[in-house]
Amino acid sequence: MIRKTVLVAAGTLALAVGGLLGSGSFVSESQASGLQLADAAQMTAVKERQQAMKDVGANMKIIAEFVKDSKGTAAEAAAAADKIGEIATAIPAVFKVKATLEEMDAVGKNRGKPEIWSDWNGFLARGKALEDESAKMASALNGGDAAAIQAQFAAFGKEGCGGCHKTYRGPKVDG
Ligand code: HEC
Repeated sequence: MIRKTVLVAAGTLALAVGGLLGSGSFVSESQASGLQLADAAQMTAVKERQQAMKDVGANMKIIAEFVKDSKGTAAEAAAAADKIGEIATAIPAVFKVKATLEEMDAVGKNRGKPEIWSDWNGFLARGKALEDESAKMASALNGGDAAAIQAQFAAFGKEGCGGCHKTYRGPKVDG
């Protein structure tokens, strides 16, 4: 029963999309305003990279809770830092399909700025910085020195996350 409903809904969506694509006036209008229609690869790519970032955020939360509120253990926080380092190595792969925030109406709340692709090497350098900062974060946590952990946590947020978001992530999208 549920399955049938989903199929019907998907069929309706396909028809709606087909209708949009088939209507010449919609396409030329969107081209005139510089907008492109997002294709299936872009839709998938945006979901994938946003999921990767959500996972980074969830692991960051584990570290922050340990550092700020002494929740959990240093070993758990260090494992979360390692996990972020691992996700960081996938940044080139999950961002390789270009889908910018100019196209966000078609791909949901997409906040990837065009600079990601116009300055691809700069972007990759920020991904590498995240990898390096995660490794330093894990080793500070494993080292157990409270002051070193606090200092590295600040650097981690600033260099690891903020350094990239400031340049390559666009403003919050409503809706
Ligand atoms: C190499 C660049 C880069 C680095 C480093 C980076 N981010 Fe991101 N992040 C982005 C971009 C770009 C987006 C927007 C993606 C989109 O909307 O398509 C984003 C989105 C996010 C989101 C929102 C995900 C969603 O759609 O719900 C969270 C949460 C996040 N980042 C957390 C972090 C944290 C925490 C760190 C550091 C530990 C970090 N990011 C490091 C580039 C980066």
